[in-house]
Amino acid sequence: MKTSTEEIDIIKTTLKHCEDGSTDLQPKIMRNPVSIYTDPENLKNEVEILFRKFPIIVGHREQLAEPGSFFTHDDTGVPMLIVRTNDNKIKAFMNICRHRGARLTVGPCGKSKTFSCPYHKWTYDLTGALRGLPQAGGFGEIDKSQLGLIELPSFERYGLIWVRPSAGENSIDLASWIAPMEEQLSSLELENHTIYKEWSLNRKMNWHLALEGFQESYHFCGAHEHTACSAYLDNQSVWLDKYPHARHSVPLPTVVKMKDEPLSDWKYRPHFMTQNYVFPCNYIQVMTDHVYVHTIIPTGIDTCVFKCMMLIPEPAKTDKAKQYWQKNYNVVRTVFNEDFEIGENIQKGLNSGANKDFLFGRYEIGLHLGAKAIQDALSGSLKI
Ligand code: FES
Ligand SMILES: [Fe+2]
Repeated sequence: MKTSTEEIDIIKTTLKHCEDGSTDLQPKIMRNPVSIYTDPENLKNEVEILFRKFPIIVGHREQLAEPGSFFTHDDTGVPMLIVRTNDNKIKAFMNICRHRGARLTVGPCGKSKTFSCPYHKWTYDLTGALRGLPQAGGFGEIDKSQLGLIELPSFERYGLIWVRPSAGENSIDLASWIAPMEEQLSSLELENHTIYKEWSLNRKMNWHLALEGFQESYHFCGAHEHTACSAYLDNQSVWLDKYPHARHSVPLPTVVKMKDEPLSDWKYRPHFMTQNYVFPCNYIQVMTDHVYVHTIIPTGIDTCVFKCMMLIPEPAKTDKAKQYWQKNYNVVRTVFNEDFEIGENIQKGLNSGANKDFLFGRYEIGLHLGAKAIQDALSGSLKI
């Protein structure tokens, strides 16, 4: 994998930080009101805007391997049915029958040429068109072409499946939206990866608390004292503001070796873990040889769901490979759990009044960038 100019710059900045004992800093600290985590009205607004108007990652192309493959997704509060059509495109629909609103597809995934409603058997094809209804005479002259499933904007990019959970008036241009991250995300070749594990965790914490666990590395040697701490340089992250997204590069201790190597030999990937925030709730977390894709979705003011896929470059065929990936999976589950336990404990104290604001330190750059982009979207100045 070629080292990009951006990555060369990240390596240079990191080596400079190592030499100077410095790290990236924001100009000032920031105060984030605790009401953002506790106010149901704020959450309502966030759901209406962040989780309806912007695309979220719902899966990997492997889950829609061939025409007729489908899966469902419910966590945003909008029941969604995502399918691969006969011409190999993906489409997303509200998983809701147009007759009287029954849930069309009940199971989580499968393969089918048509979707037949369990209530009165109205039947739709893979393009969402209403193909047939029993005893149609009882409906008189209805126009079947107006009774197709409600389609949601959907995209397949970098091997990932993205859906905006509202039909809305306007279409969206995912390519321009994701452009600041394009070079890096396309270089990962996630379309050639395979899902090793996929899991969802319902946690008792406001979704911001889960999100924030991935927006700084200042906590690594506190929360992950016996796990991630020694794997990375302490609090020496490098940040690139890719508004409204962000690239957060966390150096491994091996990075310093490159100091004595010619620049033409520099390699980024073996020496960094990269947490890529893709607004509003998606992360593409790049490890040295595999990738986690996660989304964090609110399910209540004090609850959220964390959905994660572990992507590996090729299927684990040998016992050795299986053990290797299982070990990585076990570690990441432990590390994420350390974050979530802390988040759940923060949640328990949120209503105590101990804090009116949380302090975002100058190191905690992702918190500043993420909070700003979210505020902009809520105030209407950030649109897709
Ligand atoms: S609600 Fe689906 S066919 Fe009646
Ligand atoms: Fe963490």
